[in-house]
Amino acid sequence: MNSFTSNDDRRPVYFTMTSITERAWDELANAARSRSPFNFLQLATSGLDGSPQLRTVVLRRCDPKEATITFITDTRSPKAIEIGRDPRVSLLGFDPARMIQLRLSGNAQLITDEQKRHEIWAALPERTTALFKMPLAPGTAISDDGDALHRAALDNPDVAFARLAVIIVRLSRLEWLDVSGEDHLRWANELTASGWKDVRLSP
Ligand SMILES: Cc1cc2nc3c(=O)[nH]c(=O)nc-3n(C[C@H](O)[C@H](O)[C@H](O)COP(=O)(O)O)c2cc1C
Repeated sequence: MNSFTSNDDRRPVYFTMTSITERAWDELANAARSRSPFNFLQLATSGLDGSPQLRTVVLRRCDPKEATITFITDTRSPKAIEIGRDPRVSLLGFDPARMIQLRLSGNAQLITDEQKRHEIWAALPERTTALFKMPLAPGTAISDDGDALHRAALDNPDVAFARLAVIIVRLSRLEWLDVSGEDHLRWANELTASGWKDVRLSP
């Protein structure tokens, strides 16, 4: 078992790689429940023309046992369309206070289970469900004054709910990088043909 201890007070003491992996999953699970820097992740997809595309999404759920994370978006958004074409995604989180980077990758899938979609919809704040009532698809060009947004008659809640895309990402790799101390520490937890494997990496 690989091990590392630190005398540097600013950073946690890591005992084993297993504890790092657990810690990384704990961080994600906590981030899905509360505001933490990892509550906002940068999601990368492949654009329809093959170019990389990045944007921020809110981490809504994390299931460490299933190695899944969930976020929501609008079915009309480019990212939803891109994922439909190529489900391979990467996500990145960064905690500037602790100088920790979390780098994730896996396969994204649209959840079609109506009960799960309803559960997630019911837990969303009004200001978020309101976004789905907008008749203009995300990314639609509008005039500079934004009048089109104010004039738009909002669609009803059923139409809005139909636009909710709940996206679950089955992770196949999770990487933890801590650059808070003199020694930069990097670990990966990766799904291989023989199961999940931890490996410490040169930073
Ligand atoms: C703090 C923050 C959180 C965001 N959360 C989400 C989100 O959970 N889902 C989402 O679809 N867009 C979210 N957005 C907006 C996206 O980053 C993006 O601008 C928008 O969804 C259009 O992306 P697309 O054109 O690549 O589909 C968020 C933006 C910010 C700044």
